[in-house]
Amino acid sequence: MKLPLPPLPTALQPKPKRPSEEEQVKPVEQVKEAGISAVDWIDERTSLSGAARWVMFRKIPKGTNWFYTLGSATMFAFLSQAVTGVVLAMYYDPSVTNAYESTRHITNDVFLGEFVRGMHKWGSTVMVVLICLHMARTFFFGAYKYPRELNWVIGVVLLILTFVMSFTGYLLPFDQRSYWATIVGVNINGTGPLAGPFLSDFLRGGAEFGATTLSRFYAIHMLVVPGAIAALIGAHLYLVARLGTTAPPWLKAESHEGIREERV
Ligand code: HEM
Repeated sequence: MKLPLPPLPTALQPKPKRPSEEEQVKPVEQVKEAGISAVDWIDERTSLSGAARWVMFRKIPKGTNWFYTLGSATMFAFLSQAVTGVVLAMYYDPSVTNAYESTRHITNDVFLGEFVRGMHKWGSTVMVVLICLHMARTFFFGAYKYPRELNWVIGVVLLILTFVMSFTGYLLPFDQRSYWATIVGVNINGTGPLAGPFLSDFLRGGAEFGATTLSRFYAIHMLVVPGAIAALIGAHLYLVARLGTTAPPWLKAESHEGIREERV
């Protein structure tokens, strides 16, 4: 049997630390701790972490590749358009007398104005290209089939709304090119069967092209359609998280187990 060691004499025992000598917690650690406490505080009251985990930690099918990033790329293009659009709206004046001048002012005088305007202009093209590539990916991978038909339909509405954004945004600089191009576009809409004439009247805000047309295009471009796109992206992503993504067709062809196997 092993006996416990006798205690050290008091003189040899380590002295307890005085409050001033206690180990200092590093500021970085303190900041981390504060962040964690704040997130915990919110989570305790909302239980949002469960939803975040459900959306972010999903199983994805074997063979998932770079083509699956096109949807997220489209979403980031939209976010970039939203941010640069808000900055432009701070300087843009949607009146027939000032629209052109305010756009020139943004390009020539405002700090980084030309850069932000360029990002918004080229970003619109990037978004259209990305959304078409993403649609092609979902089409060629057969992702529109059961049970994802509704997500395809939401996608089609998103595609139309993206085109509406491009069309309505084109008029806003109110230069010769945008003015005449929009007249052509509105006239093309007018040639559609049944709804055509109503649609072109609605877009013009009457029989003639004028001040109401510009404010109407501005309201559609910066309020109605971005709001609808944001809401529909929410629904689109909810369905992606709920249903999972489709396996590439060459892997699906190998399996005969159906949808359950696709998701592993
Ligand atoms: C603003 C536009 C859009 C955004 C932000 C968006 C975003 C996304 C994201 C992030 C995904 C999951 C990852 C991926 O497969 O890329 C996805 C999946 C999907 N999207 Fe889109 N999308 C948009 C437009 C469209 C369009 C125009 C269509 C078709 C007409 C479409 C149809 C689908 C389908 C069917 C899926 C499911 C893919 C699968 O199960 O593999 N989306 N979308």
